[in-house]
Amino acid sequence: MITIVKGDGYVMIKGNKINLLPVRLTERQKIYEWCFHSETTKSHSGPPDYPDIAIATYQEFCDEYYEEYYFTGAHPEKGQGFLIMSNQEAVGFISYSAFHLKSSLAELDIWMKDEASCGKGFGNDALYALSNYLKKELNIRLLLIAPAKKNTRAVKSYERAGFKRTDKKMNAFLAEEFQLMYGNGDYGVDETMILINHLDK
Ligand SMILES: CC(C)(COP(=O)(O)OP(=O)(O)OC[C@H]1O[C@@H](n2cnc3c(N)ncnc32)[C@H](O)[C@@H]1OP(=O)(O)O)[C@@H](O)C(=O)NCCC(=O)NCCS
Repeated sequence: MITIVKGDGYVMIKGNKINLLPVRLTERQKIYEWCFHSETTKSHSGPPDYPDIAIATYQEFCDEYYEEYYFTGAHPEKGQGFLIMSNQEAVGFISYSAFHLKSSLAELDIWMKDEASCGKGFGNDALYALSNYLKKELNIRLLLIAPAKKNTRAVKSYERAGFKRTDKKMNAFLAEEFQLMYGNGDYGVDETMILINHLDK
């Protein structure tokens, strides 16, 4: 069971092992570092395993990946980011994006801040908690997540959280105006695995 705790301009999503807290603008640089300059970066970007996936600069992260509204909650219909909290410690980041997709769909992204925070079920629980929140609060009906096929730890965690592999292409989910930009997936058509989770069952 997840619980959504709401106060004046405040929300906390309570999972079983972790809680999710809306991330703030002052934490943007830290979230970038966890993604592109941490122990976990090698799981999705840069050599040796991902020589063709560049380590983004902070400017690129802000301009192309994570605009300000992910850190202010100003556009929940487009997307938002959350800290993954274990007890009182922030152990990772999870976000949803909907701005580029067909109606009632959202795409999730997630990364932990270090290896010590991986493999403890935090990712699984964060995905489960955010999925339930999106269903209840934003009426999202279908979630997708698109890791590299070779990121087996991520794929396993997503499958445990209820996501299923699909042979559909990214374009099946993207709004028409974003198909050229995002149609190949982050790792290219052949190396990206698309997993989906129907929330209306
Ligand atoms: C992907 C990620 C968010 C998953 O979160 P997590 O908390 O580590 O995942 P969980 O603990 O819920 O589940 C991990 C599963 O992978 C398994 N696993 C651990 N190490 C593994 C490895 N090297 N290879 C394959 N499976 C592995 C675990 O046993 C567990 O499966 P189980 O529940 O059946 O035992 C996290 O590992 C992470 O941040 N990784 C680095 C960044 C990244 O890859 N982000 C995703 C980009 S798409």
